[in-house]
Amino acid sequence: MISLKIHNKEEKWMEGYDSLAAQNKEALFLAQKGEEEYGDSQGWLDTEEWADEKRIRHLETLAADIRQNADVFVLIGVGGSNNAARSVIKALQLPDTPEIVYAGNTLSAHAMQQMLGKLEGKSIYVNCIAKNFETLEPGAAFRVLRKYLQERYGNKAPDRIIATGTVGSSLEKLCMDNGYAFLEFPDNIGGRYTAVSNVGLLPMAVAGINIRELVRGASDMQKELRERTAEENIAYRYASLRNLFYSRGYRIEMLACFEPRFRYFYKWWIQLFAESEGKDNKGIFPVAGEYSEELHSVGQFLQDGTPIIFETFLDIKEHQESFYMETDGKKDGFNYLDGKDFWCINKEAYKATVTAHSEKIPCLTLEIDRLDAYHFGQLFYFFQFACYLSCKLMGVNAFNQPGVEAYKKKMFDALGKQLEK
Ligand code: PA5
Repeated sequence: MISLKIHNKEEKWMEGYDSLAAQNKEALFLAQKGEEEYGDSQGWLDTEEWADEKRIRHLETLAADIRQNADVFVLIGVGGSNNAARSVIKALQLPDTPEIVYAGNTLSAHAMQQMLGKLEGKSIYVNCIAKNFETLEPGAAFRVLRKYLQERYGNKAPDRIIATGTVGSSLEKLCMDNGYAFLEFPDNIGGRYTAVSNVGLLPMAVAGINIRELVRGASDMQKELRERTAEENIAYRYASLRNLFYSRGYRIEMLACFEPRFRYFYKWWIQLFAESEGKDNKGIFPVAGEYSEELHSVGQFLQDGTPIIFETFLDIKEHQESFYMETDGKKDGFNYLDGKDFWCINKEAYKATVTAHSEKIPCLTLEIDRLDAYHFGQLFYFFQFACYLSCKLMGVNAFNQPGVEAYKKKMFDALGKQLEK
């Protein structure tokens, strides 16, 4: 399970929390039931809707087949179509599973060449994930890769292509016309909420991740958050605290962790909150702190700079791995580390940082028991539900993203998209 801790709660920035949390209970009640006005975006609220036993079994079978035949699995997708899978794969991929290569998330010519370079002489499978198949990056990369597969595998190329798109989309038509396998992208979930569906689960399963456990984690968290009252509901408390800090002028939230395996999870989290909450001239700007490395850069600002950031630490409770410091017998000024476990050294660094930073700014800790597929499932559901609640408290729609259209129109005009027949 996930627990939420508030550090230095007697400090002035907690004033008003109780009345704010009491006032907004109606928002929790509505979110727990699901709201008709967001009916086309809440397919994730009930994990069972898109990650039921039948779907899990299908994905496990498909992934086992790909694992058997592929050296490289190319995941084409951007934003909500690749962030969740990449965050878990980068943290938990099993050995002896296909190398996962990411494409469709950049327009860089250099990156395109690098990506193709990784495929030479290897057995390749491709999964193109796109909700409506109009996004430029995945569309362009899929073109390049289809041609590449055609040249390498001839009429066997379609056997190596899986597309994940919505029923009735142009991507589904492309699959039907060309004999590619097709997986359903939930039509009632926006990309950034699709971790626990075909979108996130197929690539994770190819990388050997236990998706059954991940779904179980999400589903346990669902019960927790949709049934608990405001007083004992951690998502509600977290959402209320974010809004309280925001009202006090803390306009940036830093998600910070001392475990580098969370590096790509930050990207998922940043997208979720930035795209859901940042609208109507409102929103908390989400950033990540990769500690302990970034204590030597942004740490200065947090401790001593303009107080506009609050910090949410992500911490792991169990002692999962050890690496002991041995001495080489030389006097180097680090003898106080002799015999110590890096796990413990890292934990002391975390505790010291929380103590120091919470003297200056609001600090929270979200603690998970261990880093595994089950807890990734919990984290996905927890943050999605908390984000939805936080947006409700802030008075914005958590599920649209009108702000990303402005640059697209100009770019498509410049590229001549409107002229295509
Ligand atoms: O969360 C969202 O809806 C977006 O970030 C999308 O996931 C992203 O823009 C990719 O869209 P698509 O899957 O249609 O290519």
